[in-house]
Parts: sequence; C-alpha cells; structure tokens
Amino acid sequence: MVSTRKRVGVLISGRGSNMAALIAAAREPSYPAEIALVVANRRDAAGLRHATQAGIATAVVEHTAYGADRDAFERAIDAVLAAHGIALICLAGFMRRLTPGFAARWEGRMINIHPSLLPAFKGLDTHERALAAGVRIHGASVHFVVPELDSGPIIAQAAVSVRDDDTADALAARVLAAEHRIYPLALRLLAEDRLRVVDGRCVIDGAVFSEGALVAPDGAH
Ligand code: GRF
Repeated sequence: MVSTRKRVGVLISGRGSNMAALIAAAREPSYPAEIALVVANRRDAAGLRHATQAGIATAVVEHTAYGADRDAFERAIDAVLAAHGIALICLAGFMRRLTPGFAARWEGRMINIHPSLLPAFKGLDTHERALAAGVRIHGASVHFVVPELDSGPIIAQAAVSVRDDDTADALAARVLAAEHRIYPLALRLLAEDRLRVVDGRCVIDGAVFSEGALVAPDGAH
C-alpha cells in the first residue's frame, strides 16, 4: 500500500525537544504525518543526534556559509526539502528569521511553535517577560508562519498557571511540557487537512473544545 502520510521536514537550531515530540507522535502508525527530514542551520544542534538515532534523515544547511545572502541560504534549504519530497514544514526552535519570500512559498504548509500565549510576548525571552509583566496565565502557541514574526493564524494553544515563586527556568519547563502536547496535535490537524484560515483566523474541522477555564490561583487555600 502506498503511504499517504504527509512528509514533514522539521527545522531546528538546537536542543530539538519539540522535534523529538513530533518524532514520537509520528511513530504511531495512524498518525497522518511522517517526520521525513530534520534540517539544522547549525552543525552542533543537539537535536541532530536524536534524529539520527531515530533513523531520520538529517541535513545541515549552515547560514554562516551564505553570509548576508538570506535568499541563497533559503534556496539551499528549499533544495534539500525538495530532494526529500517534503510537503509540510515544522519550525521547532529554528532561530533564523525567514524572508517573506520563503514564508510565501510555504504559506499554509509551514507552522511554528512559540513559548507564549500569542499575541502576547512575541519574540525572545518570553518567560522572563511573562514574569516581569506579572501575568497569572502563560503558555505556548502553534501558529501558521507568515512574514511577520510570531504572527500567523493560531492553530492550538496550551495554558499554564504562573506561580508566585516561579523562576523563568521553572516556568519554561512547564511550558515546554505543554509545547510537547500541542505541537503533535497541531501537526495532526494540518496533515489531516482540517485547518482553514478565514479572515485571518484558523478554523478547525471537527474540533473538540473542553469547557471551563484555567483559573490561577485556583481555589481559596
Ligand atoms: C521552544 O521553547 C520553542 O517554543 C521555541 O524554541 C524552543 C525550542 O526548544 N520556538 P526545543 O529545541 O524544541 O527543545
């Protein structure tokens, strides 16, 4: 039988824990996508080793080899994606800004995970900024990639409560666990063609939403 699973390329720059979560989810035979390639822009990206051990093809496209020529860097990425027949891209801690041209070529087929409840705290150092702002609820988002940073239609979010004694590291660890839940979920929805963007919002065919709110602090203890 010919596999109908969508071939996914995951782009990383470092640790690759979200990549690992996607790989683990895609091991399930009924999962609608397969992680067919991991691309890193750094040779020392720790996630590369995990991908190799999982039997997944890897490629290194070093941005430093292209100097300031972002188009040439992205053409090199496109070439390796094409060589592996990649249909969908997951950015997972990929620390290079992509050009509007690349975003346009992959519009509707490229998603990213960001460690905040977007549109709050776009950019870097989200956990430090959430603590400084004093928010009670923080979290993670998976969204379609558009040219503007951290701004595309939101596919899935997870919330965590912020504790009075939190540190950025402790908060990051709880958010990361939430990231590992929602990224495979969002990729599943994309690979099953269940996502539509209507007036800038993502609409999900057959979505199930739980009732109730995460309240923080919770209860009068
Ligand atoms: C994650 O927090 C992700 O949301 C952000 O970069 C981090 C990557 O972590 N975009 P990892 O490499 O997936 O472990």
